[in-house]
Amino acid sequence: MKMTRLVEIGSLAMVGVLGACGSSTTDGAGGTTGKTGQTCSTLPPMTPLTAATKIGFVQLYEASGLWRTANTNSIVGEAAKRGYNLVYNPGTTDAAQEQVSRIQELIDAKVDALIIAPHDETTISPMVVAARKACIPVFIEDRGVDNTVAIPGVDYVTLIGSDMVTEGALTAQWLINKTAGKAKIVEFEGTIGSSAAVGRKKGFDLEIAKQPGMQILVSQSADFDVKTGHDVALQLLPKYPTADWIFSHNDGMSFGIIQALQEMGKTSGKDIGIVSIDGTKQGAQDVADGLIAEITECNPKFGPILFDTIEKYSRGEAIAASLMNTDRTFDSTNIASYLPEAF
Ligand code: AHR
Repeated sequence: MKMTRLVEIGSLAMVGVLGACGSSTTDGAGGTTGKTGQTCSTLPPMTPLTAATKIGFVQLYEASGLWRTANTNSIVGEAAKRGYNLVYNPGTTDAAQEQVSRIQELIDAKVDALIIAPHDETTISPMVVAARKACIPVFIEDRGVDNTVAIPGVDYVTLIGSDMVTEGALTAQWLINKTAGKAKIVEFEGTIGSSAAVGRKKGFDLEIAKQPGMQILVSQSADFDVKTGHDVALQLLPKYPTADWIFSHNDGMSFGIIQALQEMGKTSGKDIGIVSIDGTKQGAQDVADGLIAEITECNPKFGPILFDTIEKYSRGEAIAASLMNTDRTFDSTNIASYLPEAF
């Protein structure tokens, strides 16, 4: 399994802080307590991993999503490869509260560690704090949380993911080069309140704002979803006939948009260009076929780095506050070499 280079950012978290998790309840908070009835006021230590260690995994739910499936498979597959006891209960609806319930179930089950892919920042951050209070070390993957609520190195060990702001900025920079700084853009945002949507929008919009010849005509969420992308495109694009580019926050929405354009008698790549984020196999093929002009990579294969990190933490090693992928950009000039590793 090939991973892009990972860089360490931020301050170091150390485990085994004496007195952080002991018989004295420093929090005074209600909620679930740890295995021996304690409440932890900072990062709980872990004993070295064994096959009996229970690691809970709370993936966010998405109705459609090649990225999400690749991410889940990477984590479930890596746990199996290393012989770990992964407690994974897939979601059933895309409501953030449903993910909250699944996190609470694993806190109540007193798992030894938790891996969480947060649906959004607002709803999930308090659950990270709740897990820490219950003396369960949390490893966040993919999307981030609100660090004013859940603090890295205190409430959770680390975030293993992609720099979403950089992904948006890379996409904008590609578009600026391609159009010599002239474009009218419709932006399809991901799930409202998710760090992926917030960060990508921030990175992209900031770069575009520096270009006097570029304008974002409208920006609307289509929830990172194929069907919603299709439906929003049908409703939105006829209102903006001068738009010549679409920025879609993920490949799934791009697939829906391509379909909607066809239904409107238009061809992506001819009548309007699409720039996207992810790097799925289908998206990469669309780049090769000229239907998507550019894709900024968001590598979902976090399984190996996640379990390396959990192992290190359980041995008492220092862990950086975040471990971020370095993402690449793909267009017609380099897509052929990427296609074999696309997910
Ligand atoms: O958080 C990562 C994003 O979530 C991926 O870009 C997307 O495909 C998924 O829905």
